[in-house]
Amino acid sequence: MAQGTIFQKRMEKHHDELRWLYMELYQNDDMFGELCGQLYEYDAQRSEELKERDALREKEPGWYKKNDLLGMMLYIDNFAGNIKGVEEKLDYLQQCQVNYIHLMPFLNTTKGRSDGGYAVSDFRKVQPELGTMEDLESLTKACHKKGMNVCMDFVMNHTSEDHEWARRARQGDGEYMSRYFFYKDYSIPSQYEKTVPQVFPTTAPGNFTWLPDAGHFVMTTFYPYQWDLNYKNPRVFNEMVYNFLYLANQGIDIMRIDAVPYIWKELNTPCRNLQQVHTIVRMMRMICEIVCPGVLLLGEVVMEPEKVAPYFGTVDKPECHMLYNVTTMATTWNCVATRDVRLLKLQMDIVNRLPKEYVFLNYLRCHDDIGWGLDYVWLMQFGIGEVSHKKYLNDFLTGQYPDSFARGELYNSDPASGDARLCGTTASLCGIEKAAYERNEAALEQAVQLDLMLHAYMLTQSGIPVIYSGDEIGQENDYSYHKDPDRCADSRYLHRGRFQWDMAQKRTEKGSVQEKLFQGIGKLERIRKSTDVFSTDADVWTIDTWNDSVLGIIRANKKEKLIALFNFSEYAKPVHLDEGGGQYTDLISGQKVEESGLEIPGYGAYWLVK
Ligand code: GLC
Repeated sequence: MAQGTIFQKRMEKHHDELRWLYMELYQNDDMFGELCGQLYEYDAQRSEELKERDALREKEPGWYKKNDLLGMMLYIDNFAGNIKGVEEKLDYLQQCQVNYIHLMPFLNTTKGRSDGGYAVSDFRKVQPELGTMEDLESLTKACHKKGMNVCMDFVMNHTSEDHEWARRARQGDGEYMSRYFFYKDYSIPSQYEKTVPQVFPTTAPGNFTWLPDAGHFVMTTFYPYQWDLNYKNPRVFNEMVYNFLYLANQGIDIMRIDAVPYIWKELNTPCRNLQQVHTIVRMMRMICEIVCPGVLLLGEVVMEPEKVAPYFGTVDKPECHMLYNVTTMATTWNCVATRDVRLLKLQMDIVNRLPKEYVFLNYLRCHDDIGWGLDYVWLMQFGIGEVSHKKYLNDFLTGQYPDSFARGELYNSDPASGDARLCGTTASLCGIEKAAYERNEAALEQAVQLDLMLHAYMLTQSGIPVIYSGDEIGQENDYSYHKDPDRCADSRYLHRGRFQWDMAQKRTEKGSVQEKLFQGIGKLERIRKSTDVFSTDADVWTIDTWNDSVLGIIRANKKEKLIALFNFSEYAKPVHLDEGGGQYTDLISGQKVEESGLEIPGYGAYWLVK
């Protein structure tokens, strides 16, 4: 079929719904006409290789739902200096068995006012220190040849104040001011402040910034240099879609749409998850299916499960392909600190009850802090209050609590509310940093066990596991940001350190921490990829282990059943299973174990099959 015809067919499939939704928001025929014309243009510009990729994926729309995708998030500069450097390091990533790399923000931004690259000043230019768009295209091609997918961030809620639009708006150009939220005085901002919560209460309080030179307030939900875009203006939507398609045409496979719940604002609302956000995400999904059906949308919705799930849309009208399993991640660290898995079991039950079509991205750590969005109503039955519990978690995970092994730092600690979030690498939170520093071999062994157990548990969850670069070799916190004036106020840089290639060398040195983790995690990944029951279509449920420290998960399909057990305590724990008795093989250790009288070692992980 000629390409034009393929485009027409896809367009016909979605046109009416797309138009309907567009008109609902914008009532603007001309702008809709322009949008459709541009979709045609971006389709025409898409390379033959990418179109072939699209065609294959259209034939197999569930391509990302098997058990063979394994992600890694990395900063280009930290990992390999620049984009060319990443291309040279693809062999290492393949040794990590990774076939999906998330390149952390790399578009143009202003040093010192970048929010880790999330303040984009040009959506069509790579940060010069990292390379060029040509380098990016060359990297995506090289990745595709090796069977790897590339993910990038599409920061759609805001631009940097140095973006061309912002600069013109600041100069008083009405056309550009209308692309943001500008107010002459504080009367409307003050109304917003009554209902809109704060994202960075300590590092960037408030949701508006006064611009003395422009004589206006501008809406800045995140940092003062990140100006919120006004999606009520169809020009903003259209132009951002064109930017999106331009980037997709560089060979990006997965677009992480950043801070998506925030993109629509209405007075007297929290300006989160408004219905119009879903209209926009649904339109973006259709636009992908028309121009670049091989591209997946990964939504960043850092909220409780009831708010996350609607971003999948419905089976007929899907929105995002994938979403982060964020509450499960936060609850995991709650269990590390409490050695009690009951809350995690409850949380996993909520996720497991969702339709299997929903694909979650599972992770232990990412570039952001851990926010304590836990189920406090449930915890209340044990007399556990929100403020005191958060304090305990933060004390434990920052190593303040007696006998704590963790080494984290607080993030956006708000003395007024007593609230704080948490930063740190997986290894440092698991105790590797402290034990190595104190040269305590037994504690180090235990910390490595905990780290491995957490990875085994992450790989057991349904969806796509994503490793945070450095975790595969147990990279510790990087305290150097304290001395960097551009970064010292943002403790998220604690876990955004340079990749330590000298440490990575040790991954083949028998008995080193790096070897134990790299080989240990590698083994788990190999088992996952070669065992059908890890596929997304398996049924997954939790079981009672009759021990509050041991999490039990079953994965089952028509042929196989796997019983996964994870001990979140440092002590050996007896568990009682009701699975019919008999002998099992643990896929991880290869050992045989009996169901009756089963005991699981401290921080142990079992993948049991008959
Ligand atoms: C997302 C990013 C975070 C950033 C924020 C603002 O939440 O993950 O790092 O600060 O968006 O763009």
